[in-house]
Amino acid sequence: MSSDTPPTSREMPPGPDGLPIVGNYLAFARDPFEFMTETAREYGDIAAWEELDGPIYQLNHPDYIEQVLVQNNQNYIKGQNFQKTLGPITGNGILNSEGAVWRRNRHLIQPAFHPDRIQEYATMMTDSTEAMLEGWDDGETRLVHEDMMTVTLKIVARALFGVDIEDHVHAIGSALEEFMEASESLSNYILPEQIPTPSRRRIRQARERLDAVVYDLIEERRANPGEQNVLAMLFEAEDENGNALSTRQIRDEVVTLLLAGHETTALSLTFTMYALARHPEVESKLVAELDEELNGQTPTMADIPNLTYTEQVVKESMRLYPPVPGIIREPVKPDIIDGYEIPPGATVRMHQWVVHRDPRWYDDPLAFEPERWTDDFEADLPKLAYFPFAAGPRRCIGDRFAMLEAKLILATVYQQFHLELTPGTELDLMATVTARPKNEIPMTVHRR
Ligand code: HEM
Repeated sequence: MSSDTPPTSREMPPGPDGLPIVGNYLAFARDPFEFMTETAREYGDIAAWEELDGPIYQLNHPDYIEQVLVQNNQNYIKGQNFQKTLGPITGNGILNSEGAVWRRNRHLIQPAFHPDRIQEYATMMTDSTEAMLEGWDDGETRLVHEDMMTVTLKIVARALFGVDIEDHVHAIGSALEEFMEASESLSNYILPEQIPTPSRRRIRQARERLDAVVYDLIEERRANPGEQNVLAMLFEAEDENGNALSTRQIRDEVVTLLLAGHETTALSLTFTMYALARHPEVESKLVAELDEELNGQTPTMADIPNLTYTEQVVKESMRLYPPVPGIIREPVKPDIIDGYEIPPGATVRMHQWVVHRDPRWYDDPLAFEPERWTDDFEADLPKLAYFPFAAGPRRCIGDRFAMLEAKLILATVYQQFHLELTPGTELDLMATVTARPKNEIPMTVHRR
């Protein structure tokens, strides 16, 4: 944090100049990871610049990020830029909604993520992973990210909606994927919403394909509600006026949970598999733990507390490769951060990618070192120096679910297989709402 005398609160902090009209958008779009990292390196803990749709403030210090997400969270909404990106697909679901609607959504959905409830998902998670592994032939090359996307989508649909989406995995997965890619086009941000650009057409088509499946799924479940799950709770829920939720609102929640609940975990697994392939010593240690703790049995909930190295591996992977590389907020009223006034309507950016690689908090920050995650190390770390799941009231609702799922899938896979990265494969990422690989990640799978 700067120790200089605080400037007057009206001044804008220093930041990159950028081009007229599109500001720094082009530099950001060219290589977002480099842009955000360079901005932090050059301008320090808070940087700002103007863009077409208003000023951007990038916060690079854990304490400032804590101020926005935790201490002063009531003053912040997701904001117009967040809505522009995800709104067209997730509508007014829990991720996008604000105020009373968000509180109702969170309250409604929270029970599905209670620790007791999450425990019940463990067997289904390992069953789904084992079913996937039955399709892996010794010595074949697999596109692991595709496999992870499929298995995590099936798991979230079964856990939260009680449905087996075997027949629809491709339709749902490809529509969500298409949407995520098209939503990043520069034209979505700089051209007025009425202009039907190619990317907006792709977004509309992806949405239509997705909705066709999701509305069917909702109607089918409405007719046969079955066990208690999120969908059953949504059918029974009432809105602020005591009315049943509209099918449209239910659709928004379902799509939000399908999207938020599978791609992030799949990414974290893909990145972990990549990192393990690049660090055989870490893989050996992981496998030694699995052999010792599991004795060849499928991992269960009871094994989780003993899989300490597995947990360190997942944590370190989410540090170096956070599946959500940055989040944004918008102040409702002016806020003062490091003496600077952040005006209402500004976009505040906070990048896990930058903070998780800051040498002030992590020695040798680019090294993949699961061993660094000791209790003492965590106790000394500033709170928001590690925030893969964000923080405060809008912290990820699925954090425990995701950690359990990642550990169980990893343990089940590495107990049975050694994964070898196809030579020449690099992890080249694009920053959409999530950090996603630009290329396939082919790996040869060898049965142990
Ligand atoms: C490694 C896996 C995951 C990561 C890294 C992750 C990360 C995040 C982050 C950073 C946010 C905050 C977004 C923001 O403030 O703009 C978030 C929110 C959310 N996540 Fe996750 N997530 C993961 C897995 C999951 C899973 C498995 C589910 C559900 C099954 C889920 C459901 C949600 C929902 C519903 C929200 C919105 C919460 C709210 O606004 O109240 N996430 N997640």
